[in-house]
Amino acid sequence: MKTFIAAATVTCTIVVGSLALNALAEASALQQAGQRGQRGQRGGEQPPAQPSGQPGQPAAPAAPAAKPLVPVAASTLAAHPENYYGERVTMTGAVEQNVGKLAFSVDQDKTKTLEQQILVLAPRLNSPVDPNTYVTVIGEAIAFDSAELVKRAKDYPVEISPELAAKFKGHPMIFATNVINTSGVDLAARLPPPMTAEEQALQKAMKAIAPASAALRADADKMDASLTKEHAATLKQAFAQTEAIWKTKGKADAVQFAADARKLAETIEADAAAAKWDEIKTSAGTLNTKCGACHGAYRERFDDGSFRIKVPTPGTK
Ligand code: HEC
Repeated sequence: MKTFIAAATVTCTIVVGSLALNALAEASALQQAGQRGQRGQRGGEQPPAQPSGQPGQPAAPAAPAAKPLVPVAASTLAAHPENYYGERVTMTGAVEQNVGKLAFSVDQDKTKTLEQQILVLAPRLNSPVDPNTYVTVIGEAIAFDSAELVKRAKDYPVEISPELAAKFKGHPMIFATNVINTSGVDLAARLPPPMTAEEQALQKAMKAIAPASAALRADADKMDASLTKEHAATLKQAFAQTEAIWKTKGKADAVQFAADARKLAETIEADAAAAKWDEIKTSAGTLNTKCGACHGAYRERFDDGSFRIKVPTPGTK
């Protein structure tokens, strides 16, 4: 099988040929797009990946509906693939070799033939998989089909040769969401781009806001006027910065959330001087609703747990 794969990979035609004309167009669009990750960089001509997706709404990035995981050995999947088609599997096996951009093959051990190999397609790989090392792949098992590849091209910008596509036709493959190496690192994790200066400024404000807003309730319980004022002042200032940042971004609703929060902080500050503790608790509760409102629309969490500004593209909010 080494010979087979070798033969197939030397053909450096990076086009998923032998597919419909349509497919060719898709593939070259992907090549031009180069590296993935810029949201919305591709045209809107792509049909949604999930058949259930509403028209006009791009599919969620490589995240199938949460189905229970079915554990399977690479050899079992190769021997009885039909039992696993459509399932979300977790499969551990040895990397046989890289067979294209974001595509590699896995088998149970190094002595097996192609018939026992599983093709794995990844949405992205932050670093390449190493041949002859073990990986745990999580994703949907299907019978390889070029049309399906084209359908999911937006989430899986893979490039494999037409020869390889032909050879794998009907064989089990996995559309991976996670590719975990022996160090426990998910090579397919969606990592954030470097922070912009704006994001750094916003993060600084958020890091001041979080503890100050959390402290307010206890401050009020303790009826501690000076701590309440101190935390309210911090919030006032940090939300004023937040407000300014969103003004430059021209997002009126975000500006409003930040302005509301800032005004509530001002009210709390004034109420602390007047020892209006019940009012302060109410205001603090209202202030906390502004966090979620803004985060829901404008905060994005990446797989490494970090946050960035999300600016929704029209129609996808
Ligand atoms: C006007 C919008 C807006 C409001 C209001 C807002 N946030 Fe945020 N927050 C963001 C955005 C956008 C991010 C992601 C970018 C970042 O981390 O700077 C974020 C990030 C955060 C983070 C993560 C910081 C990090 O990167 O570690 C925390 C914690 C946080 N917010 C707390 C709060 C709390 C608590 C409130 C309310 C008391 C609040 N935020 C109100 C927009 C907002």
